[in-house]
Amino acid sequence: MKLHYNPASPYVRKVRVLALETGLMGDIELALATLTPTSPDGNVNADNPIGKIPALVRDSGEALYDSRVICEYLDTLHGGPRMFPDSGEARWTAIRRQALADGILDAAVGTRYETFLRPEALRWQDWVDGQMGKVRRSLDVLEAEKLGDTVDIGTISIACALGYLDFRYPDEGWRDTRPALGAWNETFAARPSMTESAPG
Ligand code: BEZ
Repeated sequence: MKLHYNPASPYVRKVRVLALETGLMGDIELALATLTPTSPDGNVNADNPIGKIPALVRDSGEALYDSRVICEYLDTLHGGPRMFPDSGEARWTAIRRQALADGILDAAVGTRYETFLRPEALRWQDWVDGQMGKVRRSLDVLEAEKLGDTVDIGTISIACALGYLDFRYPDEGWRDTRPALGAWNETFAARPSMTESAPG
């Protein structure tokens, strides 16, 4: 399989962490993509018309996207513990957490583009404030969750979102008012799958 990737992308990181946790990384060839919304990558576009990474080209030649679909697909390819629980409350919790973490990422990545890529004269501070409000409210919800030592798509997604905040928003200080989330992240971020996939 071939994965269109960039080491800075937290959505790609979700896929890489899941592949590392499930022993599938050896089956995946990484193809470096360099792209922004205003500077697309033709190789990615050929496999994903939306032009986003991650995109996974299966051995059959068929492509899959986005990170949620790829992660769920990879989870069917191994014999270890399921990263997407089959049913019941564990499933709803895991996929809700994935949605929450992806929502944090959508807001944080969008803000990154607004504050870094968009010409300064066109930047919209109210929009940035609204997006960062989503991030902060979501982190407050996660502070109250008992994440424990669960390793599944929910906690993988949360760890990748927190890693992205540390990478692109080092001054955000999200730990200051969220000690439980900070302690949980310290343990999860030390997993080999996380250290091996760290950006930068
Ligand atoms: C970033 O550089 O922040 C980034 C790269 C790819 C996808 C999303 C974010």
